[in-house]
Amino acid sequence: MGSGENEKGLTMTRRQFILASATGVAGLVVGYLAGRATAPAREVTTTVTQARTETVTATETVTETETVTQAVEKPVEKRYEKVKVANISELAVGKPVTRTYMGKPIVVIKLGEPADGGVGPERDIVAFSTFCTHMGGGLFYDAQNKTLVCPIHFSVFDPARGGMVVVGHATEYLPQVILEYDEKTGDIYAVGFTRLVYGVESNL
Ligand code: FES
Repeated sequence: MGSGENEKGLTMTRRQFILASATGVAGLVVGYLAGRATAPAREVTTTVTQARTETVTATETVTETETVTQAVEKPVEKRYEKVKVANISELAVGKPVTRTYMGKPIVVIKLGEPADGGVGPERDIVAFSTFCTHMGGGLFYDAQNKTLVCPIHFSVFDPARGGMVVVGHATEYLPQVILEYDEKTGDIYAVGFTRLVYGVESNL
């Protein structure tokens, strides 16, 4: 009985051994298959990484394309023109002449006495806008009083004092024309205004 039990015990031990061996082999097979099954997952990861790299490269290309240089137009600069408005031989005391300068009517006067801004040998030649600074009335020259007079509300300006208001509704000086005199030829040139002419946004 003791030996039978030992043999039975040995027999059971062999079965257990066989079962254990089979289980071990099966485990190895399963492990191997599991290993094969996980291998493709690494390949998928590699593919995703490559795709990200291509995406970054495309973004950099778009950024370079957006760098554009725009042309800027330079504004045209306007200036006063130098325009001959009379010759001294055309002028006589008390007899003004009308002209146009920068598209605006002016009057050139030989006063017969030195004046502010006067040109010529006696510094008595001056020129002014003919628009009254009150409401734009057309001025006329009063030779007896040597003044420029507005017929609308009777403002009076002094051409020997830079167009100062003597009397009337006007409160601002009359715009004086800046003159230059050529001693060799006697030509008189207009080169600018001292202030804004009535009724315009710019003298230019
Ligand atoms: S418009 Fe000349 S005084 Fe009024």
